[in-house]
Amino acid sequence: MTGKNLEPVRWRSDGLEVIDQTLLPNKLVYVRLGSVEQVCAAIKTMKVRGAPLIGVVGAFGLALSVKKIKTRDLANARTQLRKWADFLIRTRPTGVNLRWAVERVFKASAKARDVSSLKEILSKEAEAIFNSELVAARKIGKYGSPLLEEGDTVLTHCNAGALATVGYGTSLAVVRAAVEQGKRISVIATETRPLLQGSRLTAFELAHDRIPVKVIVDSAAAQIMSRGVVDKILVGADRVLKTGHVTNKIGTLPIALSAKFYGIPFYVAAPVSTVDMVTDPSMVVIEERNQREVLYFAGRRVAPSNVGALNPAFDVTPPELVTGIVTDRGVAGPPLVESLRSLSG
Ligand code: MRU
Repeated sequence: MTGKNLEPVRWRSDGLEVIDQTLLPNKLVYVRLGSVEQVCAAIKTMKVRGAPLIGVVGAFGLALSVKKIKTRDLANARTQLRKWADFLIRTRPTGVNLRWAVERVFKASAKARDVSSLKEILSKEAEAIFNSELVAARKIGKYGSPLLEEGDTVLTHCNAGALATVGYGTSLAVVRAAVEQGKRISVIATETRPLLQGSRLTAFELAHDRIPVKVIVDSAAAQIMSRGVVDKILVGADRVLKTGHVTNKIGTLPIALSAKFYGIPFYVAAPVSTVDMVTDPSMVVIEERNQREVLYFAGRRVAPSNVGALNPAFDVTPPELVTGIVTDRGVAGPPLVESLRSLSG
C-alpha cells in the first residue's frame, strides 16, 4: 500500500467505512459508520478530518439520515432532512466543504417524487461529490507540480494529503505529481500540535510513498527557514476567501510570516470546493476545540491542574503572504481577488 493510494473513506450501500485517523500511524483500522449520528461523532472526534474529506463524509452522512425518516409524506421528510443537515453542518464550523457538500446533497432532495426515492438520489449526489474530489486532487497535482524544481525541499504544515481528501491529497498531490515526473523532492513536515496531524499522518503517507520526509516541532519552522534549507512552502486550506485570505490549521500564519521574511514562496493547494466567494474574512468562525487537547499529552496532564488552555484550531493568513493558490482549475496568482474570481467563476 502506498500513501497516494490510501482510501480514507469507502461507501457501502448501507454505510461508510472510514480509516480511524486517531489511531494512525500505529494502526490502520477501518471503522463502520452506519448512521448520521455516527458520522457526526466521527467528524467531531476527528476520526475523519481534513476539509474535503469532512465534506464528502458529511454528504454521505445526509444520505444515511434517510434511514431515520419514517414518514411517507415528502414535505415532512424534507423537513426532517433539513434537521439532519444542520446537525451535520454544526459538527465543525470552520471548513467550508462540510456546509458546501451537505447543502448540495440537501438541494438534490428536491428531485425526489416520493420518500422511497430519497436514499438513492442523495447517495448518488454524495458519490458525485466523492468522484469530483478525486479528480480535483489529480488536477491540483498537475497544475501545481511545475512550481516544484528538481531537488526542492518543501515545508508543509498539518496533513493535506490522501487522508484529508478522498485520495492523493492537495498540498501532497503537488509533491506526489512532481515526484511522479521524476523530480527528487524532500519534505519537512511540522508535527502540528496539538493533534500531530503532521507527524502522525503526513509523515505516514510520505514514508509509505518512499518520499524523504523529516518531522520538526512547529516552533522550529522559522529557524529551519533561516538556514536556507527550505525552497517552497506548501499547505492546504479549510476555507479560501474571495479576498485571498486563507484559513488553515493553527500555525499556518506564523509559517507564512516567516516565509515572507526569508523570501520563500508560500503556496496553498485547495480544490475549488474549498473556495468561499461569499463569506467576509471577518465572519469566518474559528473552531475552538477542547482545552484537554492542549493540557494532556498521550493521556498525561502536561500543565498544572489549576491551569486552563486556549485551543483555536485554525488561523487566517492574509493574501499579501500568499504567493499562489493551486486549484483544480489552475494556479491563482496575485492579485488573488481577480484570479480567484476568474478561476471559481
Ligand atoms: O483539524 P483538521 O485536521 O481537520 O485540519 C485540517 C487542515 O487544516 C488541512 O490543512 C485542511 O483541511 C486541508 S485538507 C486538504
